[in-house]
Amino acid sequence: MKQLFFTIGMIIPLLVFAHGKEDHSGKKAEKAENQKGQQMHQKIDQTGQMKKLQIETINKNYQINVKGIFKQKCIDCHGVPEKYPWYYKVPGIKQIMDHDIQEAQEHLDMSNDFPFGGHGTPLSDLKELRKTVKKSSMPPLQYWIFHPGSRLNDKNKEIILQWIDQSINRLSQ
Ligand code: HEC
Repeated sequence: MKQLFFTIGMIIPLLVFAHGKEDHSGKKAEKAENQKGQQMHQKIDQTGQMKKLQIETINKNYQINVKGIFKQKCIDCHGVPEKYPWYYKVPGIKQIMDHDIQEAQEHLDMSNDFPFGGHGTPLSDLKELRKTVKKSSMPPLQYWIFHPGSRLNDKNKEIILQWIDQSINRLSQ
Protein backbone atom coordinates (compact mmCIF):
# COMPACT_ATOMS: atom_id res chain seq x y z
CA MET A 1 0.00 0.00 0.00
CA LYS A 2 2.69 2.34 0.96
CA GLN A 3 4.48 1.49 -2.22
CA LEU A 4 1.39 2.13 -4.36
CA PHE A 5 1.01 5.60 -2.88
CA PHE A 6 4.62 6.16 -3.51
CA THR A 7 4.26 5.16 -7.14
CA ILE A 8 1.19 7.35 -7.71
CA GLY A 9 2.96 10.08 -5.89
CA MET A 10 5.76 9.81 -8.41
CA ILE A 11 3.50 9.60 -11.43
CA ILE A 12 1.37 12.64 -10.73
CA PRO A 13 4.21 15.12 -10.65
CA LEU A 14 5.63 13.40 -13.70
CA LEU A 15 2.36 13.91 -15.57
CA VAL A 16 2.12 17.50 -14.45
CA PHE A 17 5.69 18.03 -15.37
CA ALA A 18 5.25 16.44 -18.77
CA HIS A 19 2.19 18.55 -19.43
CA GLY A 20 4.03 21.59 -18.31
CA LYS A 21 6.86 20.71 -20.61
CA GLU A 22 4.52 20.37 -23.54
CA ASP A 23 3.10 23.77 -22.84
CA HIS A 24 6.58 25.09 -22.69
CA SER A 25 7.60 23.69 -26.03
CA GLY A 26 4.47 25.19 -27.61
CA LYS A 27 5.51 28.55 -26.30
CA LYS A 28 9.01 27.92 -27.53
CA ALA A 29 7.72 27.34 -31.07
CA GLU A 30 5.72 30.52 -30.84
CA LYS A 31 8.75 32.36 -29.60
CA ALA A 32 10.86 30.97 -32.42
CA GLU A 33 8.19 32.05 -34.88
CA ASN A 34 8.21 35.54 -33.41
CA GLN A 35 11.95 35.67 -33.58
CA LYS A 36 11.85 34.62 -37.22
CA GLY A 37 9.38 37.40 -37.90
CA GLN A 38 11.58 39.89 -36.11
CA GLN A 39 14.62 38.77 -38.05
CA MET A 40 12.74 39.23 -41.26
CA HIS A 41 11.69 42.72 -40.23
CA GLN A 42 15.26 43.45 -39.33
CA LYS A 43 16.37 42.25 -42.73
CA ILE A 44 13.84 44.51 -44.44
CA ASP A 45 14.94 47.36 -42.18
CA GLN A 46 18.55 46.64 -43.06
CA THR A 47 17.78 46.67 -46.77
CA GLY A 48 15.92 49.95 -46.36
CA GLN A 49 18.78 51.29 -44.30
CA MET A 50 21.32 50.22 -46.91
CA LYS A 51 19.30 51.82 -49.70
CA LYS A 52 19.16 55.00 -47.66
CA LEU A 53 22.92 54.99 -47.19
CA GLN A 54 23.47 54.35 -50.91
CA ILE A 55 21.20 57.27 -51.79
CA GLU A 56 23.09 59.48 -49.37
CA THR A 57 26.39 58.52 -50.98
CA ILE A 58 24.97 59.10 -54.46
CA ASN A 59 23.77 62.52 -53.36
CA LYS A 60 27.16 63.36 -51.85
CA ASN A 61 28.88 62.51 -55.14
CA TYR A 62 26.20 64.44 -57.01
CA GLN A 63 26.88 67.54 -54.97
CA ILE A 64 30.63 67.27 -55.43
CA ASN A 65 30.78 66.45 -59.15
CA VAL A 66 27.51 67.01 -60.99
CA LYS A 67 25.40 69.63 -59.26
CA GLY A 68 27.56 72.51 -60.51
CA ILE A 69 26.98 71.46 -64.12
CA PHE A 70 23.23 71.00 -63.71
CA LYS A 71 22.97 74.30 -61.88
CA GLN A 72 24.50 76.06 -64.85
CA LYS A 73 22.76 74.18 -67.64
CA CYS A 74 19.53 72.56 -66.43
CA ILE A 75 18.19 74.27 -63.34
CA ASP A 76 16.51 77.10 -65.30
CA CYS A 77 13.83 74.60 -66.26
CA HIS A 78 14.32 71.65 -63.88
CA GLY A 79 14.47 73.70 -60.70
CA VAL A 80 14.15 77.17 -59.32
CA PRO A 81 16.33 79.50 -61.36
CA GLU A 82 18.35 82.00 -59.36
CA LYS A 83 17.25 84.75 -61.68
CA TYR A 84 15.08 84.85 -64.75
CA PRO A 85 16.59 86.22 -67.97
CA TRP A 86 15.53 89.71 -69.08
CA TYR A 87 13.29 88.36 -71.85
CA TYR A 88 11.18 86.47 -69.29
CA LYS A 89 9.29 89.76 -68.96
CA VAL A 90 8.50 89.91 -72.68
CA PRO A 91 4.77 89.19 -73.12
CA GLY A 92 4.24 85.73 -74.56
CA ILE A 93 7.71 84.50 -73.63
CA LYS A 94 6.81 84.24 -69.95
CA GLN A 95 3.93 81.88 -70.74
CA ILE A 96 6.11 79.67 -72.92
CA MET A 97 8.83 79.54 -70.30
CA ASP A 98 6.42 78.87 -67.45
CA HIS A 99 4.95 76.02 -69.43
CA ASP A 100 8.42 74.61 -70.17
CA ILE A 101 9.47 74.89 -66.54
CA GLN A 102 6.29 73.26 -65.30
CA GLU A 103 6.64 70.37 -67.71
CA ALA A 104 10.35 69.95 -67.04
CA GLN A 105 9.75 69.83 -63.28
CA GLU A 106 6.97 67.32 -63.60
CA HIS A 107 9.46 65.07 -65.36
CA LEU A 108 12.52 65.83 -63.31
CA ASP A 109 12.78 68.32 -60.49
CA MET A 110 16.38 69.08 -59.51
CA SER A 111 15.52 71.68 -56.84
CA ASN A 112 16.33 69.44 -53.89
CA ASP A 113 19.37 67.45 -54.98
CA PHE A 114 19.29 63.65 -55.31
CA PRO A 115 16.90 61.83 -55.29
CA PHE A 116 15.26 64.21 -57.76
CA GLY A 117 11.60 65.12 -57.59
CA GLY A 118 9.19 64.36 -60.42
CA HIS A 119 7.40 61.26 -61.54
CA GLY A 120 10.37 58.86 -61.66
CA THR A 121 12.11 56.62 -59.13
CA PRO A 122 15.79 57.28 -58.35
CA LEU A 123 16.76 54.46 -60.71
CA SER A 124 14.46 55.42 -63.59
CA ASP A 125 15.58 59.07 -63.30
CA LEU A 126 19.20 58.00 -63.65
CA LYS A 127 18.38 55.90 -66.69
CA GLU A 128 16.44 58.74 -68.33
CA LEU A 129 19.30 61.08 -67.60
CA ARG A 130 21.79 58.71 -69.19
CA LYS A 131 19.69 58.62 -72.35
CA THR A 132 19.41 62.40 -72.65
CA VAL A 133 23.11 62.93 -71.92
CA LYS A 134 24.19 60.32 -74.47
CA LYS A 135 21.87 61.73 -77.13
CA SER A 136 22.69 65.34 -76.21
CA SER A 137 18.94 65.99 -76.25
CA MET A 138 19.04 68.22 -73.17
CA PRO A 139 18.95 71.16 -72.84
CA PRO A 140 16.47 71.45 -75.71
CA LEU A 141 17.50 73.21 -78.89
CA GLN A 142 15.25 76.24 -78.37
CA TYR A 143 17.09 76.85 -75.12
CA TRP A 144 20.72 76.35 -76.04
CA ILE A 145 20.58 78.42 -79.23
CA PHE A 146 19.77 81.40 -76.98
CA HIS A 147 22.19 80.34 -74.25
CA PRO A 148 25.60 79.84 -75.70
CA GLY A 149 27.58 77.50 -73.48
CA SER A 150 24.53 75.80 -72.03
CA ARG A 151 25.13 72.58 -73.95
CA LEU A 152 26.97 69.80 -72.18
CA ASN A 153 30.57 69.57 -73.38
CA ASP A 154 32.50 66.30 -73.58
CA LYS A 155 34.07 66.77 -70.15
CA ASN A 156 30.64 67.47 -68.60
CA LYS A 157 29.22 64.36 -70.21
CA GLU A 158 32.07 62.20 -69.01
CA ILE A 159 31.63 63.38 -65.41
CA ILE A 160 27.84 63.00 -65.48
CA LEU A 161 27.92 59.56 -67.12
CA GLN A 162 30.50 58.34 -64.63
CA TRP A 163 28.29 59.47 -61.76
CA ILE A 164 25.21 57.91 -63.37
CA ASP A 165 26.89 54.52 -63.92
CA GLN A 166 28.34 54.43 -60.41
CA SER A 167 24.96 55.34 -58.97
CA ILE A 168 23.02 52.78 -61.00
CA ASN A 169 25.49 50.16 -59.77
CA ARG A 170 24.96 51.23 -56.19
CA LEU A 171 21.19 51.05 -56.49
CA SER A 172 21.28 47.66 -58.20
CA GLN A 173 23.38 45.99 -55.52
C1 HEC B 1 14.41 75.06 -71.62
C2 HEC B 1 14.11 74.24 -70.50
C3 HEC B 1 14.96 73.02 -70.21
C4 HEC B 1 16.32 72.95 -69.92
C5 HEC B 1 17.28 74.10 -69.83
C6 HEC B 1 16.61 71.56 -69.67
N1 HEC B 1 15.49 70.79 -69.79
FE1 HEC B 1 15.32 68.75 -69.50
N2 HEC B 1 13.35 68.84 -69.96
C7 HEC B 1 12.65 69.99 -70.31
C8 HEC B 1 11.27 69.64 -70.62
C9 HEC B 1 10.17 70.63 -71.04
C10 HEC B 1 11.16 68.23 -70.42
C11 HEC B 1 9.92 67.35 -70.57
C12 HEC B 1 9.55 67.13 -71.98
C13 HEC B 1 10.59 66.38 -72.74
O1 HEC B 1 10.98 65.28 -72.33
O2 HEC B 1 11.05 66.93 -73.75
C14 HEC B 1 12.49 67.77 -70.03
C15 HEC B 1 12.80 66.44 -69.76
C16 HEC B 1 14.04 65.99 -69.32
C17 HEC B 1 14.35 64.64 -68.98
C18 HEC B 1 13.39 63.45 -69.10
C19 HEC B 1 12.83 63.12 -67.74
C20 HEC B 1 11.82 62.00 -67.78
O3 HEC B 1 11.78 61.27 -66.80
O4 HEC B 1 11.09 61.91 -68.76
C21 HEC B 1 15.65 64.59 -68.57
C22 HEC B 1 16.43 63.37 -68.08
C23 HEC B 1 16.17 65.95 -68.67
N3 HEC B 1 15.16 66.77 -69.12
C24 HEC B 1 17.46 66.31 -68.35
C25 HEC B 1 17.96 67.60 -68.53
C26 HEC B 1 19.34 67.95 -68.27
C27 HEC B 1 20.41 66.99 -67.79
C28 HEC B 1 19.46 69.27 -68.55
C29 HEC B 1 20.71 70.10 -68.48
C30 HEC B 1 21.87 69.61 -69.14
C31 HEC B 1 18.15 69.76 -68.97
N4 HEC B 1 17.27 68.71 -68.95
C32 HEC B 1 17.88 71.07 -69.32
C33 HEC B 1 13.14 71.28 -70.35
C34 HEC B 1 14.45 71.65 -70.13
